[in-house]
Amino acid sequence: MSKRLLDKSNEHFKKAIQKIPLGVTSNFRYWGDDETIYIDHASGCRLWDIDGNEYIDYRLAYGPYILGYADPRVDEAARQGIEIGGVFALSTELEYELADKISSMVPAAELVRFSNSGTEAVMAALRVARAYSKRDEFIMIEGGYHGVSDSVMWDIDLDEWDPTAGSPVLASSSLGVPKHNAEMLHLVPMNDASRLKDLLKEKHNDIGALLIEPILGNCCSIAATQEYMNAVRSLCDQYNVVLVIDEVKTGFRVAKGGVQELYGVEADLCTFAKSMANGYPIAAVCGKEELMRSIKYGGVLHGGTFTAHSVAISAANKTLDILQNTNALETVNQYGTDLRDGLSKILSNHNVAHCFTGHPAMSGLFLSEDAPTNARDFKGSDYPFYEKLAEEMLEDGVLCEFDPREPWFICEAHAKDALKPTLDAFEVALERSLEG
Ligand SMILES: Cc1ncc(COP(=O)(O)O)c(C=O)c1O
Repeated sequence: MSKRLLDKSNEHFKKAIQKIPLGVTSNFRYWGDDETIYIDHASGCRLWDIDGNEYIDYRLAYGPYILGYADPRVDEAARQGIEIGGVFALSTELEYELADKISSMVPAAELVRFSNSGTEAVMAALRVARAYSKRDEFIMIEGGYHGVSDSVMWDIDLDEWDPTAGSPVLASSSLGVPKHNAEMLHLVPMNDASRLKDLLKEKHNDIGALLIEPILGNCCSIAATQEYMNAVRSLCDQYNVVLVIDEVKTGFRVAKGGVQELYGVEADLCTFAKSMANGYPIAAVCGKEELMRSIKYGGVLHGGTFTAHSVAISAANKTLDILQNTNALETVNQYGTDLRDGLSKILSNHNVAHCFTGHPAMSGLFLSEDAPTNARDFKGSDYPFYEKLAEEMLEDGVLCEFDPREPWFICEAHAKDALKPTLDAFEVALERSLEG
């Protein structure tokens, strides 16, 4: 039971649940009948709920805010986008400007098409990959998340897995997902190149694509090693498999050129969303010209009523201008590093084993000495303690996801004044959690 005053949120929940399943518009926003909060407004790195509680936010809506909430520069551009008029079942010149900007930041993005969400961009990428390769089966990495379309809503079932009793089983993360989707899918653990090689050797005639987040943004930010990414690239080349790098979380966050720049590995197709427009809903499916030209009459169909809405396109153009021409990402990186150092010092002072994974702009905090190398290693961390710690921090106004698989997202605005209050709250929360 929360110590914060949540009277208004609780009252609203009782109303909302009558019209909206779980009282929210994404299952992950439901925190319990007495704990679900409703937001009044947000600014910079802070949220205020309708009871007036203030939170320094490290969820950042699961990643889109790279500059901060209600960034005045981006919001002004969005207002200019409103003046353009919305969507027209026709195109604007601004789309070319944005596509060109993305190409200049991401070498693999030779051609670009826009979608509304990461889910849609991944769906489009898979369709292009299948059309190009003429093979329907594809590979995903255990612990990867690629949105809410039926074909990718599968993973190993870690909750039910007993590591002493063999391998984890494949499960869908939702009821209602047709089982036959799983027949198209092969899951492999991160950082095991020989397993990938064996699979491709045996099944390359059926497998057309490999879909990967090199930093698993929904699994503790567990990262591929450089050797693994090199092997992924060369095995895809060897077996003519389309390499799809899903940069929905890493894109325009971990580097101007995304995770591909970090690893020096170019995708055949790549997807972007979240940080691309600092919170405005837009995504991109991008890739090498040879593949992207499959999108054509008589070829791959891609589109949608709301694609390239003038508000989102304007916001994205402005966001990428800022990321390209200012040191915003250096600020994010430095804050993330300082935050890691501060948290680490506190944890070490209290003899709590820990390590950080991924990138400072989206760190996983893993409560074990050894860094995980794949999703199965998650079982080796003290995640019930992490959940307790996150709940305690919330009481002191610091919001990170209760599920330790979600990274701590940093935005430029954190660097203004969030470090000390975060570390103070963390220390108090840790002490309370250790007391039991
Ligand atoms: C790597 C990755 N791909 C795809 C998606 C789906 O994006 P969206 O929620 O915009 O549909 C997400 C969402 O978190 C993601 O992290």
